[in-house]
This record gives sequence, structure tokens and C-alpha cells, in this order.
Amino acid sequence: MSGTPLLDVDGLTVSFNAASSAARGGALAVDGLSLTIHPGETLALVGESGCGKSTTALALMGLLDPHRTRVGANRLSFDGTDLSRLPEASWRRLRGGSIGMIFQDPLAALNPVRTVGRQIGEALRLHRGLTGRAAHSETLELLRLVGIPEPARRIDDYPHRLSGGMRQRVLIAMALAGEPRLLIADEPTTALDVTIQAQILALLGNLQQQTGMALLLITHDLGIVGQLAHRVAVMYAGRKIEERPVDELFDDARHPYTQRLLAARPRRGAVRERLTEIAGAVPAPGAVASGCAFAPRCVFAHAACREAVPAWRSLGTGGIRCVLDEVDANAESSTIAHANERRSHAA
Ligand SMILES: Nc1ncnc2c1ncn2[C@@H]1O[C@H](COP(=O)(O)OP(=O)(O)O)[C@@H](O)[C@H]1O
Ligand SMILES: [Mg+2]
Repeated sequence: MSGTPLLDVDGLTVSFNAASSAARGGALAVDGLSLTIHPGETLALVGESGCGKSTTALALMGLLDPHRTRVGANRLSFDGTDLSRLPEASWRRLRGGSIGMIFQDPLAALNPVRTVGRQIGEALRLHRGLTGRAAHSETLELLRLVGIPEPARRIDDYPHRLSGGMRQRVLIAMALAGEPRLLIADEPTTALDVTIQAQILALLGNLQQQTGMALLLITHDLGIVGQLAHRVAVMYAGRKIEERPVDELFDDARHPYTQRLLAARPRRGAVRERLTEIAGAVPAPGAVASGCAFAPRCVFAHAACREAVPAWRSLGTGGIRCVLDEVDANAESSTIAHANERRSHAA
């Protein structure tokens, strides 16, 4: 996509203080992450649990505790506003307003002692100044928009009366109340069963088309990004290791980590598996190996991979952080073998 990005992040770093971190203090949970999202675009941010996805999301929303974290960036701009210098009062207007957010656990994000109508109404008052009848009818409209049946009845329900899927719809309605230009969705369907998951993803896709909002879809599950994402950024141990248009990524993933994520993704009709299929685990921020962080788990790794963090190099309209194609002629054939294996799985 061309034109000015809505969200423009360059070189984002986040570290947790020693006191709050089980690992070494000052170690980077997010290490030089760059992302852009254009209006109306969906970027999926993908990686196993512990890669730094939620930390990235919290940093983008100004929600990390400044006493326990250090956030740095060369550029952190949303709709032309420099987020790194934003006073807290401006953040409060932005969050839930131009930047909406939904999380994995809708119950935790909802107030248990307030009806869903009041909670959506509060968002409408805060971000659009609506009260009374106007707020009431807009609340009904939002409940309808997110596919909640019988909105006139549901508006007076407390969150515990709703199913997990319905709660997530309520949270989406609350986010939409602020007319967001960007919606950040962190594992929005992880807590839901597969059928409901598909419905919520379809809803997000529809809403995006209706409203033109941009979407940052954060997930550990590459299987769910295909139907929604335009581009996919893959993260490992706080670093972006590959970014590609979605079709290219699925056809021709280059980073061995991305290839393994693709191979491990749950396929339609198959029993849901977890990504632990990739031997080993994501290192904690203080325990990241020198060089390529994935090298200790990578079957193609050799000496050069452990020497220095591979530079980001562009690949078509995307890019990759891996030296394999450059230094090892055998890597290409291994990559192709993997791709063939993937295709035969997919067939
Ligand atoms: N508040 C915190 N204090 C210390 N370490 C944290 C904190 N939050 C996350 N981490 C660590 O940062 C790393 C990235 O975590 P997170 O961003 O939650 O990953 P993801 O969302 O990709 O699963 C993990 O190793 C996690 O243990
Ligand atoms: Mg997370």
C-alpha cells in the first residue's frame, strides 16, 4: 500500500525493569520492531506465546507502566501524532476513541456490576459526547451491528449472562463506540471455541469493510490470519523476523521459523493442535542467544547465524531477517523441501 501510514512505528524497544522481570533487568522484550498500517488495512502480528506481541500492543496504546518499563522508538506516530510525547490526558482521549482495542478475555475487560448497555453508553459519552436517548439508540444500533440478537433485551443484561462469544461482541461494540480508525485486537478469539472464533473473525472483517478502520490482529495462530490479513508480520523473541503480503507468506514463507509456524498451524477439519510442535520454547527477554534468536531451535542454523543478529533485508514488498539464502546454497533446497512438505499437508 502507498500513501501515509495511519500507524508508523520505527525501532520500537521495550524493556522491563529488573524488579518486574524474572529475567535480567533491561533485557529487551521488544527489540527494534518496525510496523506500518495504512487506513483500512489489516496487519497480522504473529508469533508463539512469549514473543512480545502483547507487550508491543500495550506499548502502542501507552498502557505500559512507566515505572516498570522503558519504551523507546525512533518513530511512534499515529495519524500524524507523535505518541511518544503524548500527555496522559491525550492518551485517554485516543484510547477507546481513535484507537480501539479488544483483548483475549472479554469477561476480564467488562465490568461485572454494570449492564452491557451502560458500559457501551459510557464509551459513547466519553468519546462522542452522547447521552440519554441518543446514547440509548446508538447502543442498540451497535449491538445490532455486532450481531447480538434481541438487542433491546440484551442491553440490560450483565456480562455474566452472556456467552463468551457474545461478550466479545459486546467488547467489539464498545470499541466501535469510539469510531476507531485503528482497532488493535490481541488474541481476540483465543478464548473462544472454533465455531465462535470463525464468527467473530468474520464479524471483524465485515466491520472493517463497513467502517474502513485499520486492524492490527495479534495472534499466535497463523491459521486464523488467512481470511482477514493483508500483510503478516512474524515476531520471534521481540524481533520481527519476516513480513510479507498474506498470500506470499502462505505460498512462500522464507524464514525457517515462519515455515515451522505454518507447518504447525491447525488445519481445517483437523483436531486443534498447539504450536509446541516446534521443539523448544521462545526464550525470555534476558535469555535470548546472540545472533539470530531462533538459531538454537533452527534445523538450518550454522556458525554465521550465531555471530550477529541478521540484518533486515527486503524481499519484494516485505522483508526477512535471516542469512540462510545468502550464505548457504543448501538452504534453498531445504526451503523448497519444506514448502513441498507443506503443500502435501495442505492438499
Ligand atoms: N510486566 C512484565 N514484566 C516482566 N516481564 C514481562 C512482563 N510482561 C511480559 N513479560 C515478558 O516479556 C516477554 C513477552 O511477553 P508478551 O508480550 O506477553 O508475549 P506474547 O503476547 O507474544 O505472548 C515474555 O518473556 C514475558 O514473560
Ligand atoms: Mg499475548
